[in-house]
Amino acid sequence: MTARVLTRVAALLVLAVVVGYWVVATGLHSERVASLDLSSLTGDTREGEYVAHTAGCVACHTDASNGGSFLAGGVAFNTPFGTLYSPNITSDSRTGIGDWSLTEFATAMLAGVSPEGEHYYPAFPYTSYSVMSDQELVDLKAWLDTVEPVSQVTPRHDLVWPLSNRSSMLGWKALFFDPDREIQTTDRGGYLVNGPGHCAECHASRNRLGGVADRALVGNLRGPDGQSVPGITASDLRNWTQEDMELFLEVGILPDGDFSGGHMTDVIEYSTGLLTLEDRQAIARYLLSGANGS
Ligand code: HEC
Ligand code: HEC
Repeated sequence: MTARVLTRVAALLVLAVVVGYWVVATGLHSERVASLDLSSLTGDTREGEYVAHTAGCVACHTDASNGGSFLAGGVAFNTPFGTLYSPNITSDSRTGIGDWSLTEFATAMLAGVSPEGEHYYPAFPYTSYSVMSDQELVDLKAWLDTVEPVSQVTPRHDLVWPLSNRSSMLGWKALFFDPDREIQTTDRGGYLVNGPGHCAECHASRNRLGGVADRALVGNLRGPDGQSVPGITASDLRNWTQEDMELFLEVGILPDGDFSGGHMTDVIEYSTGLLTLEDRQAIARYLLSGANGS
């Protein structure tokens, strides 16, 4: 471990303790989750599959490069703090999420809290999903319920202490997670980018504790796996036309004819490339309009 990582961990520990007290005193509260009532809604499995495309669930929960089963998890995420593994989210009731209620599922998605009341790490982008609509969550759950159950135990995370303790996430969440974040929902492109599409998780800059303080898409020199992620504000994209962007989001080809690489390949394969033309057009318009950082 480098001194830099140790310093960060020490800083996080101190913060976790300080913020921990504050959180215990004030409570980390989501108004939305507290008053959640999904009982009157009916899920549509086809819509749910489409919602999964808008959110890229399959890319992170299917270990495709190692021949893993659909949504059975096991994808490794390497971070400066250790390795996390995505869980099995098939309908298997023992090793997957088959016996979760709709409310338990929605609470995980909106507040990053498990049925046991434990806090998830933000490698699971609930920080972006928290704005998803009730109907989207109900549809998503209906679709997940139809996914073939696969019995596969999720590997344990291998994280440095104190992050290995999930309670440390309470401090992180108190600092960097607003469960009641509100976004414009009238602009479909902006909604997809800032909500389910979770573009900011990679394209916004993060502070030393891994928090996204400002969701402007200015790029991140140290993105996933330590790779740099380019800025995609309107000025970064000044040489792109609307058509360039639509084509890029569909097949990953850049205006100069090169293909995009790294993590963006997965985003295109499992998310933007599977969306309707209208949705890709809306995302392209939003990015080029300068509404999210110019
Ligand atoms: C960027 C990668 C990534 C994406 C995209 C992603 N997840 Fe996850 N997900 C994870 C990781 C990593 C965890 C484990 C978090 C932890 O253990 O704290 C997780 C945890 C979960 C859990 C908790 C499961 C359990 O057993 O406790 C559920 C449910 C879930 N994800 C569903 C989804 C759904 C539905 C989508 C799409 C809307 C999605 N995820 C998209 C990485 C991702
Ligand atoms: C898991 C991380 C990740 C997510 C999520 C992500 N991107 Fe990317 N994106 C990247 C990386 C990495 C690159 C650079 C790829 C390369 O080096 O070829 C990139 C490149 C791009 C580019 C090309 C920029 C350029 O100048 O070359 C665009 C446009 C883009 N992403 C748009 C988006 C949009 C829109 C979203 C949300 C729907 C999104 N990305 C979500 C990681 C991500």
